[in-house]
Amino acid sequence: MLKHHFSHALTALAARNTLHFAAHSHHPWPDCTQAAHNQYWQDSSLYLDNKWDSVLGKVLPSCQAHLARLLGTSDPKQIAFAPNTGEFVARLYSALDWTKQVKVVTTGSEFHSFSRLTRRLEETGRIAVTRVAVEPIDTFTERFCEALRTQSPHFVFCSHVFFDTGLVNPDLDAIAQAAPENAIVAIDGYHSVMALPVDISAIESRLFYMGGGYKYMMAGEGSCFMHVPSQAAHLRPVYTGWFAAFDELTTPNSQIGYAHDGYRFFGATFDASGLYRMAAVQDWLVGINVGPAQIRAHVVSLQDSLLAELKVLDGPIGATAQRLKSGLIGNFLSLTFEGDRQAQSTEQAFKAKNIMIDRRENRVRIGLGVYHDKNDIGTLLREIAVLSLQNL
Ligand SMILES: Cc1ncc(COP(=O)(O)O)c(C=O)c1O
Repeated sequence: MLKHHFSHALTALAARNTLHFAAHSHHPWPDCTQAAHNQYWQDSSLYLDNKWDSVLGKVLPSCQAHLARLLGTSDPKQIAFAPNTGEFVARLYSALDWTKQVKVVTTGSEFHSFSRLTRRLEETGRIAVTRVAVEPIDTFTERFCEALRTQSPHFVFCSHVFFDTGLVNPDLDAIAQAAPENAIVAIDGYHSVMALPVDISAIESRLFYMGGGYKYMMAGEGSCFMHVPSQAAHLRPVYTGWFAAFDELTTPNSQIGYAHDGYRFFGATFDASGLYRMAAVQDWLVGINVGPAQIRAHVVSLQDSLLAELKVLDGPIGATAQRLKSGLIGNFLSLTFEGDRQAQSTEQAFKAKNIMIDRRENRVRIGLGVYHDKNDIGTLLREIAVLSLQNL
């Protein structure tokens, strides 16, 4: 679809005789990111401290506007940035009332940035966590909302697309409605923004919604973002930084002040090159009229044909594919093996053939994107058919 816009990345992969099917992990950077990255160098080396005029006055607002469009939210100023989503998770935790034990409702399938910190806090006894299983997905919303009603949590956290199975969380609106009125409700949209059309317009005043540049945004690391709901205007995260209140620099107050918009959830000085790349990618895509709907349609069509062919294979790979249902999953296929060992040997076999995929425990993930076409799927299938003959 947009292959020719990835000439640097694809030429380098071809030179290394490597096939890349990990769009869900490090997405290749489109060609337009090179000039954007260079522009950051120019602004920094030529303008020094004055580069922030460009970062905060031009590039960051451009990213905010693009993200508000992608999320369907009405106020771009409600978008905060941080180097990674782990920082946002810690900041959200720090905005809770810690004078009593904190109750958390989440799922058993959250990424490490959330789950590691949550488990560590659990070790301290300061939080009590209810983890709802994601599968079976058809009853997930009902079971999750039931937990929200029975547990009355202070903090609700779940993904829009789950990083392990790739399953799509079916109903964010229902979750927003079932959550207690004063709870912080946060959605991890790292596997959804720019992978599928996202629209949180109906719940924008209620939900924090985060994501980042590394994957489908094609902008690389250091560029994570979070929509801050208007309902959060009273929250005062303890883990804060001086970017959260520029006004304070000139007018010191007795109480720590916070911005009234998304800046409330900012930290401190950061490398803004990712924002330059993010703005450039979005400007380019808008210019050629490509958005999440087109990207999703392209990936689903390739993914469906890959899945149909995988399902007829003998051996473990075929068996894992037979368990997948298209339509319910995001932009990567997650092949679930009986155990870690089988998944590990499959991963190693792919590696030996210079095919870049990745693995999370007993799951091998294959991610497709706009830099793939039908020929790539054919090539991948031929390689997998050979592996499958070896009973992998
Ligand atoms: C669902 C999800 N959230 C977040 C992240 C990234 O987290 P962080 O920005 O803290 O490194 C990933 C990375 O793979 C992910 O899959």
